[in-house]
Amino acid sequence: MGFRILGLMVLSILALCAQQRAIPKVWDENALKDWATPVAGLNVRPSHFSEKEYYAAPIDNVRTYPVYYPGREPEGYWQFLNAVGEKPLIEPAKLKTDRDWIEAGKRVFEESDVPAMRRIDPELAEDMRSLEVHRKIGTQVSPDGTIYGMRWVPTKMGLALGAGNCAGCHVRYIGGKPVHGAGFNMTGTPLIGQLAFPAASPIPLHGDPPGMAFYRNYGVPWVKDDIHERFKTMQPPEFFPLFGASIITSGGFPRWGGSPYYTTKVPDLIGFKDRKYIDHTATHQHRGIGDLMRYAALVTFAEAYEFGPHKLLRDDQRKIYFRQPDEALYALALYIYSLQPPPNPNKPDEKSQAGEKLFRREGCIGCHTPPFYTNNKLTLAEGFTPPPDRPKALDVLEISVRTDPGLALKTRKGTGYYKVPSLKGVWYRGHYLHDGAAASLEEMFDPDRLKDSHVRGGFHLPGQEKQAIRGHEFGLKLSAEERAQLIAFLKTL
Ligand code: HEC
Ligand code: HEC
Repeated sequence: MGFRILGLMVLSILALCAQQRAIPKVWDENALKDWATPVAGLNVRPSHFSEKEYYAAPIDNVRTYPVYYPGREPEGYWQFLNAVGEKPLIEPAKLKTDRDWIEAGKRVFEESDVPAMRRIDPELAEDMRSLEVHRKIGTQVSPDGTIYGMRWVPTKMGLALGAGNCAGCHVRYIGGKPVHGAGFNMTGTPLIGQLAFPAASPIPLHGDPPGMAFYRNYGVPWVKDDIHERFKTMQPPEFFPLFGASIITSGGFPRWGGSPYYTTKVPDLIGFKDRKYIDHTATHQHRGIGDLMRYAALVTFAEAYEFGPHKLLRDDQRKIYFRQPDEALYALALYIYSLQPPPNPNKPDEKSQAGEKLFRREGCIGCHTPPFYTNNKLTLAEGFTPPPDRPKALDVLEISVRTDPGLALKTRKGTGYYKVPSLKGVWYRGHYLHDGAAASLEEMFDPDRLKDSHVRGGFHLPGQEKQAIRGHEFGLKLSAEERAQLIAFLKTL
């Protein structure tokens, strides 16, 4: 009897806890106020949409399905897609335990697309299912038979093609298996250009000629001789090589507000929970799960791109077209927090232990401090002097590792800072430094990379592969044997 009462009490407490799951409000004026880092040169924070504007946007909560390479579709798949109809991506009322929420978040990560890029277009759908077309344009097939980054989206209006959101960039195939969060090494199909073009922006830029849309994506009006100014008069054929270069050679993607000239590699999201700042340039703080939810919203549908007096969108373009339910973004963030690295094949041995000693001796440990292998601090981009009134939340080491300062000084993601990245998982990352200029640890620690005759393995503009990778000179004076030991150690992390 006593046990039964106790049992009932425990059950009702559990039920109460489940009901009282505290889901942070995504667009919360208080949290937004001092979330972003002021941009270099202007020393103002980007403005944001108001809470009222945000919550007035219609909700989008729609399941999507993979696109298979012709011949790799499971039996009956096409009939299924055409019959299934619109289904909800997330059903919060059905989620009880943490595990349920994380599973739901996995689906949000995997299936979310960018609604503004959906197209119901029978001709495009036919091309997507044509072997001949894919052979002609050189589509890359993923090991699981899918076409990376593309989604089928059954909607009330019909079957649409969509561009994958988080999993369209934050997945790396390792040993033939997709590892969520681990970066990017598949390019999929050029047909994605029909959804995402002319704007890399997730916000539709109606009424703009392509050049102007590109300018809105990347222009930095307060930078003198802004390199993006030239976009205004460029035609699509001139853009493609630029984008191809940054996507293929940097393992990155010129995010809206970043730059195809100063790229950002797709960062590793495994271990993100322990990082204090978001983005290579610490565009935002990461104070807790609410900030990750906010960031996911920001990069998908809620970026206003206003910096003091500089407004990059016309008034009629400045709009949130849809939003995901707060619960979906909460589940997504819980899932990202739960990501674990793939099993590391590099086991510690004598060589790596010698490397660990070098890691201490060379002072790496001061910045890449265990257990996270980052001290979670910011360094200065070369040429940047932080203003005296910089936010107190920025934990700045007053030194520069002197890597390419372009991203930090000449883009809208430019804060003047580069954060000290975590080294956990460098063995699978595949691209190194904020721009992905080095394509292996061997290249990163090769002293010849400082010479102008160096042939870059990673990011370079078309025709400019011969180019030094400057900065971060730590460990470059080691002997060949020591270098191999240091790299062996890094690969065990
Ligand atoms: C088009 C490719 C693309 C898509 C889609 C995308 N990301 Fe990213 N993501 C990037 C790139 C590139 C960066 C690096 C940006 C920078 O450093 O300025 C990034 C940075 C991040 C970061 C910061 C990580 C860190 O350690 O600083 C997080 C978190 C993140 N993305 C989560 C998401 C989530 C969640 C989604 C889906 C809602 C998403 N991303 C969609 C390419 C993408
Ligand atoms: C003064 C602080 C500091 C010291 C000391 C330091 N690093 Fe770094 N490290 C950084 C910063 C900052 C970056 C990112 C620079 C950028 O993205 O432009 C970085 C990037 C890296 C990266 C690339 C990681 C990635 O995913 O892009 C590796 C690998 C690395 N450091 C290893 C080392 C090793 C090994 C040592 C010692 C030989 C060392 N670092 C010493 C600050 C430091």
